[in-house]
Amino acid sequence: MHKVLFVCLGNICRSPTAQGVFQSRVDQAGLKEHFFVDSAGTAGWHEGKAPDPRTQKHALSRSYDLSRIQGRQVVFSDFEAFDHIIAMDKANLENLQAMCPEEFQHKLKLFLDFSDCPESEVPDPYFGGTAGFSHVLDLAESASEGLLNALTEEALA
Ligand code: 4NP
Repeated sequence: MHKVLFVCLGNICRSPTAQGVFQSRVDQAGLKEHFFVDSAGTAGWHEGKAPDPRTQKHALSRSYDLSRIQGRQVVFSDFEAFDHIIAMDKANLENLQAMCPEEFQHKLKLFLDFSDCPESEVPDPYFGGTAGFSHVLDLAESASEGLLNALTEEALA
């Protein structure tokens, strides 16, 4: 069982998108029983809230239903509970590195390290326009493919 936690700042735009897209790739690959997928924010501003309506709308246009995801903040026990803690940008990664015990630092990764796209970070779409939300989806689709391949290859090795 791989336990994967996607992390952004608010847990209402990028990490719920990553969660929904990655879960969909897992389901399509018939690997549902082998994965537990969740998301959280380094900030707790949107605790208990559904993803941003713009995030939900863009995701649904590609058939990802994010409506049941509820925002939550990263908690200390996540570092032990999850196997892979995947940050959307470098600031998220640095915040996680500052909170995470030494023994679990190896679990912290940058999402786009699993993508072959030229960017290294998923840009925050919250204060921008429509294009930002579809760009997050493009990046999440590319990196989810790479992450799933990496984790299934690791399991076969
Ligand atoms: P996210 O985007 O980190 O991708 O969920 C944000 C959501 C909310 C805020 C900032 C970023 N905010 O300032 O409330």
